[in-house]
Parts: sequence; structure tokens; C-alpha cells
Amino acid sequence: MIRPIETADAATAAALIRAAFGAIPEPLDPAPSALRETGASILAHLAHGGGAVVEQAGIVACVLWSEQGGGLYLGRLAVASHCRNRGFAAQLVSAAEAEARRLGLPRLHLGVRLALPGNRRLFARLGFVETALHAHDGYANPTWAAAEKWLVTNTLPAPGKPPRPSIALPVTKRP
Ligand SMILES: CC(C)(COP(=O)(O)OP(=O)(O)OC[C@H]1O[C@@H](n2cnc3c(N)ncnc32)[C@H](O)[C@@H]1OP(=O)(O)O)[C@@H](O)C(=O)NCCC(=O)NCCS
Repeated sequence: MIRPIETADAATAAALIRAAFGAIPEPLDPAPSALRETGASILAHLAHGGGAVVEQAGIVACVLWSEQGGGLYLGRLAVASHCRNRGFAAQLVSAAEAEARRLGLPRLHLGVRLALPGNRRLFARLGFVETALHAHDGYANPTWAAAEKWLVTNTLPAPGKPPRPSIALPVTKRP
């Protein structure tokens, strides 16, 4: 069952996040801040944001989100090791999409470590596009990519009017 995260889940979700990020086999430099997640820090997040959990005789997966930069920012996506490859991450991203639509936000966004090619592939399959590379503070070379997913709306253009392009197209003069 997938459901919104509640304050009563804070400690369990924090433990799940620490375990999931702690078990990443690739060396991550800097170490993920997710390793410092606590029940208190999740409660602080829930004061302004939200998230979802997958429950199966206990919480086995979670994601946190908050409204940032005109979109819904996703973080702390974590699935217990024994529950991987069952589509839980994909379901949590779908839940985030539903929340973004409910809030009237047009896109999801997140950061993914360059050192985790499997995660980059997973997010690409889920419809995210990497838009920029960034370095953590104090690092000379890029360490993570910003990625976003624009949500398709069902709004049809008015009859007779062509749809407006979603990006500004270059204006070229006829020769
Ligand atoms: C990254 C992470 C969240 C993915 O969770 P997950 O639940 O295993 O992800 P999904 O099941 O949705 O997709 C993973 C794979 O399973 C496959 N899959 C999806 N649904 C499936 C199903 N029903 N049956 C079998 N495989 C399935 C996907 O195609 C994907 O394939 P891949 O291994 O080639 O990438 C998890 O590995 C994790 O917690 N990692 C540690 C923390 C982390 O890195 N978080 C992300 C930070 S950006």
C-alpha cells in the first residue's frame, strides 16, 4: 500500500533512508547527507513539505518532497534492500506526480549523483531529463546532475488555434 507519510512515520522513515543510502556500494564523495537523516529532521521537513511511503508489514520505501523553484522537489527516495526491483521507486515518483498536479505544479525535479549511473538510468526511464551538472560546495568537478520531469497536461488548445510552443523558438528572417 502506498500512502502519504505521516509524522508518526518519521523515525522509521529516517532509519530506512539511512540504511538505504548507507548500503550504496559505490563510494560517494561527499558522503550523502541522507546518512544524517533523523526522526527530528523528517519532522522538520514535514512542517513545510510532504512525501509518501510504501507499507508492507512496515515501511519499506519512501520519498520526501517539497515545493521549490516552481516545481515539486523530490529527495530521499529510498527502498529497503530486500524490496528493490519491484517498481516501488517508480510508484513513489508517480505519487509525487499526483501531488504536483494537485498543487498545480508543472514539473518534478531532483538531484542525482554522477557516481550512480544506475540511478541516472532509472530516472531517465521514469521521464526525467538532466538539465545541468553541479559540484558540491568545495568540489572542483561536477558531482551531481539536476534532473526534471515536466508533467503533461490534458489541456487541449482552443478549437482553431494551434498549440503554443512550450519553449521560445528562435526567430529567423526569411532570406
Ligand atoms: C534507487 C532506488 C530508490 C530504486 O528503487 P527500486 O524500488 O528498486 O526501483 P524500481 O523497482 O522502481 O526500478 C528499479 C529497477 O527495477 C525494474 N522494475 C521496475 N518494476 C519492476 C517489477 N515489477 N518487477 C521487476 N523489476 C521491476 C526497473 O525497470 C528498474 O530496472 P533497472 O535495475 O534496470 O534500473 C533504490 O535502489 C535505493 O533505495 N537505492 C539507495 C538510495 C538511492 O540511491 N536513492 C536515490 C537517490 S537519487
